[in-house]
Amino acid sequence: MPTSDLTAAVVADRLGLDDSYRDWLTALARCEPATPASLPPPSEADALLARLGVRDDDRGDVLEVWPSAQTDPELWWLVERCRGRVLAAMGDGDAAIACPSLPAALGLKGRCFWIFVYAATVDDARRWHGEHGVPDDVSWATLADLGQQVMLHRRRHGTTGLDLQWWLVLHFTGAIYELGRLQFHMHHLFRGPAGPPFWPDADEVERLGPGFRAGDAALGIHIPEHGHLTPEGCDESLAMARDFFARCFPEHRARLGTCTSWLLDEQLAEYLRPTSNIVRFQRRFHLAPGAAEDSRSTLRFVFDRVPKSVDELPQRTTLEKAIVEHIRGGGTWRTRTGWVEL
Ligand SMILES: CC(C)(COP(=O)(O)OP(=O)(O)OC[C@H]1O[C@@H](n2cnc3c(N)ncnc32)[C@H](O)[C@@H]1OP(=O)(O)O)[C@@H](O)C(=O)NCCC(=O)NCCS
Repeated sequence: MPTSDLTAAVVADRLGLDDSYRDWLTALARCEPATPASLPPPSEADALLARLGVRDDDRGDVLEVWPSAQTDPELWWLVERCRGRVLAAMGDGDAAIACPSLPAALGLKGRCFWIFVYAATVDDARRWHGEHGVPDDVSWATLADLGQQVMLHRRRHGTTGLDLQWWLVLHFTGAIYELGRLQFHMHHLFRGPAGPPFWPDADEVERLGPGFRAGDAALGIHIPEHGHLTPEGCDESLAMARDFFARCFPEHRARLGTCTSWLLDEQLAEYLRPTSNIVRFQRRFHLAPGAAEDSRSTLRFVFDRVPKSVDELPQRTTLEKAIVEHIRGGGTWRTRTGWVEL
């Protein structure tokens, strides 16, 4: 059956998508893209996946279930429309797009579904980058976060797949860029999912002035897991960001870089050396009042999981020991928001 003859109900039935997918499917049914989706044949897909940073061991698995409109019409129906939703949000760093994982019963193919969606969106994202003068190396380094997320999936679950698909919406809508050590997300304060979740109160925002107000342009700062977070690497990255956004996106005039992270928990400084990269990174930021008092984010970023008991956790580094000691002493780790003047 050609994908154009399929309906959301038939797709749901054949792929075993229960009622929890209903709103998503309804939205997708209205989202046929202007141009059809295409994926390279498996013989060329390996090179594409390699450019997207997908490691050798995962590429073999992804190619094993590489879809086409002919062999997988229902999955293709979803790929086309999910790509359509990403295209509709191109350049909008405040967009909120639902991206549910497919049911576990679909196995490897279901786990790779969002890899297919993004692989089918590469040309669109590359075109957008080209139109804004994004240098080729920045463009590919940014999109290669896909492979990094697939690597993290393997490390966390022991299988090939992608389950942080919501994060990659930013990359494939041209809203985030990897510039040296850090990534920078163009957004507007309080206009989308980036929030930030914690911020000064209204009087303080008034005092701080332009750049701090709801709707003001800002750059969300993110720290991928790529080796150490040296001060020199961060300085260079921030300098690159100033130059890059002025040249490629001059309309996005951000005064502030914002960061919401476990890395900004000031309690870390009680355990780590003052010369540690994390502590030096913290010193760049003004902290907003408020915090999420919840150790889970810290545990996930440091140990890849939230254990039943901290006794299960490895104790190799100063940070690993600190995380466990603090929790054993009755403490809770925090996620906090900070800002830096760009
Ligand atoms: C952010 C990051 C690069 C910092 O690493 P770094 O530059 O080595 O940081 P520091 O110099 O402050 O490290 C201080 C100590 O903590 C250890 N450490 C730092 N990050 C660690 C991690 N993720 N897991 C285990 N130990 C870690 C270091 O080995 C060092 O201990 P040691 O002196 O016993 O060797 C690293 O934590 C990382 O890659 N995290 C994952 C990405 C992330 O969390 N991003 C933010 C998402 S909100």
